[in-house]
Amino acid sequence: MTEKLWDSVDRFIEDYLIGHDEVLTYALKNSIDANLPDINVTALQGKMLHILARLSSAKRILEIGTLGGYSTIWMARALPDSGRLITLEINRKHAEVASENLRKAGLSDKVSIIAGPAPENLARLHAERAEPFDMVFIDADKPGIPEYLEWALKLSHPGTLIIVDNVVREGSIIDPENRGPGGEGVVNMFAALRVSGKVTATAIQTVGSKGHDGFAMVLVN
Ligand code: SAH
Ligand code: DHB
Ligand code: MG
Repeated sequence: MTEKLWDSVDRFIEDYLIGHDEVLTYALKNSIDANLPDINVTALQGKMLHILARLSSAKRILEIGTLGGYSTIWMARALPDSGRLITLEINRKHAEVASENLRKAGLSDKVSIIAGPAPENLARLHAERAEPFDMVFIDADKPGIPEYLEWALKLSHPGTLIIVDNVVREGSIIDPENRGPGGEGVVNMFAALRVSGKVTATAIQTVGSKGHDGFAMVLVN
């Protein structure tokens, strides 16, 4: 019942604030047709990422966890002409579907999908002294979150905004018996944020069509 209401409220607000968008509709349909899991951010969350990217005047965005490129499209649309987004995806099929969706979105020139395990590619970006990113969206495997946060900080500059998805997991994070390796990852991230002198961080719980979850917001000092 509650979840149905959350879903209805998302739809209600979407009717006001999210116009019909052929590119995004295609990306979702194409992803479902290709049997990708339905775990992309919601439209309202995607638009929040877009607004945050614009607020950050982001010219370089890093995404960890592409899936079909739905969140990628929202963020890449916030980039200026010269802006670039790099997105990391371990699953080749996901990367292929994302590539198709980004091509239809007219964003292929701005977005590079790097297929393979994120840790390897983050290490490579760092070794190659990649220019720091203005915004990072962490949304891949949840046990990997602490490691992704470390890399994100190494690939940042003061003022970089790091957003981490799925940091509440239906509240399971507060239960050490039932939070699982993903929840452990989230809690270890909070522990790292607590002792880091380098960041200003918060986390916001959300409800909506993707259930009860939340995102962390980390500003590099
Ligand atoms: N950001 C997307 C959703 C990402 S779902 C959106 O909101 O539209 C998480 C994605 O992370 C999946 O596609 C999964 O294959 C990918 N992933 C999981 N483990 C990974 C790893 N070790 N390296 C890179 N990508 C990974
Ligand atoms: C999962 C991953 C996500 O990024 C998400 O937003 C929801 C679920 C998952 O791996 O189950
Ligand atoms: Mg997510």
